[in-house]
Amino acid sequence: MDKFIIHGGNKLKGSVTISGSKNAALALIPATLLASGKYTFFNVPELRDISTMSKLLQSMGVEIKKQSTNLSINTFRVNKFEAPYEHVKKMRASIYVLGPLVARYGYAKVSLPGGCAWGPRPVNLHIEGMRKLGASVELDEGYIIAKAKRLKAAKIMFDVSSVGATGNVMMAAVLAKGTTVIENAAMEPEIVALAEFLVKTGAKINGIGTPRLEIQGVDELQPVEETMIPDRIEAGTFLVAAALTGGNITIERCNPQHVDAIVMKLQEAGSKLTISNDSITIQSPASAKPVNVTTAIYPGFPTDMQAQWISLMSVAKGSSTITDTIYYDRFKHVPELVRLGANISINKNSVMVTGVKSLRGAKVMSTDLRASACLVLAGLAAEGATEVLRVYHLDRGYEALEKKLRTLGADIKRVSGSEY
Ligand code: EPZ
Repeated sequence: MDKFIIHGGNKLKGSVTISGSKNAALALIPATLLASGKYTFFNVPELRDISTMSKLLQSMGVEIKKQSTNLSINTFRVNKFEAPYEHVKKMRASIYVLGPLVARYGYAKVSLPGGCAWGPRPVNLHIEGMRKLGASVELDEGYIIAKAKRLKAAKIMFDVSSVGATGNVMMAAVLAKGTTVIENAAMEPEIVALAEFLVKTGAKINGIGTPRLEIQGVDELQPVEETMIPDRIEAGTFLVAAALTGGNITIERCNPQHVDAIVMKLQEAGSKLTISNDSITIQSPASAKPVNVTTAIYPGFPTDMQAQWISLMSVAKGSSTITDTIYYDRFKHVPELVRLGANISINKNSVMVTGVKSLRGAKVMSTDLRASACLVLAGLAAEGATEVLRVYHLDRGYEALEKKLRTLGADIKRVSGSEY
């Protein structure tokens, strides 16, 4: 397992290009199961999660070829309709094959995802959604087994706004008989991108980007080409990295609208941000002002930026409170930040951070994707050397992070080895 060795203190300078969105690609790749034929995706990031999803579809008979950031997918010969545990345990997003398989082939056997680093992540909304669309769904030996001759439209109201459940139900509904309504649908850019892709293939979806989706089922869809939207969490991570080091960087090929909440919080914390249509320049003071954050569904402050924000507040000039309303126990990174000298206390789904003058480098352990990102960011600001172990978590969702940080002047290197 690889580790990063970071010597903190360098102000980040220069510009960096944002990669395609992991979470958009993880939705659009399984959506190709909805129609036979050849698809081409552009601006697909080179990430472990993308290869995990590709391997899952290849196990079903899908032909997938990746050339740099282009992905060609051929779904002519899908001959297996299962997502086995060994795939799903690596990546929860594997459950996205459920809706397309039931809608197109009338059968799906998908492993329940189990928990993740920060606790249970239920899929009840996915299962209830399939049942509402007329599928028979049984749970057997850790698997979801869903069957349907042809799905029938339904009116579905989600108790909780769920990105994954909205994606799965929408993908199932596009081939269902009749018009499905989804109330309390997720509005995240990745779900908007999925809906727009489905419309391009011939689906009929109204209300895209609003909490009420109206989906008129069609008999078949056609394969198309699509370019992935930029990754808004990678963009936010680099902006916070600049603020943490008192740096001045430009992030290119991003969608500023998708990071609005993060930009506003960074402005409140004292950074100056200049926005153009596809880039953002941030100039930051030596240390940030304390700013409270409460995560929320889009367009609120994303839960996937909660850990990175705690890193920034760890060296802010005062105290702040960060509350996660999406995941109540997504704080595995806090004890690791405390090892770096941060002053943080946890109370239920909130943390109280009192900024310290500076963090001090130490060995810290990655536990999940965004926790790892926050530890790398903290290392950039810490005095001395920080070793971030088990960076395979990072490789799931950040393309060449250490290379991009090095181009911005960070002193960071990857060390391969088995003992970490
Ligand atoms: C997506 O996960 C993202 N993953 C996550 O990003 C992100 O943290 C999350 O949305 C929230 O924004 C992908 O897009 C691949 P949810 P998802 O269903 O779809 C509850 C990253 O770092 N819920 O919107 O799994 C759930 O427990 C990853 O890139 C149910 O109760 O999240 C949570 O409290 C980590 N029942 C809330 O909804 C369900 O059936 C939001 O979860 C489904 C969800």
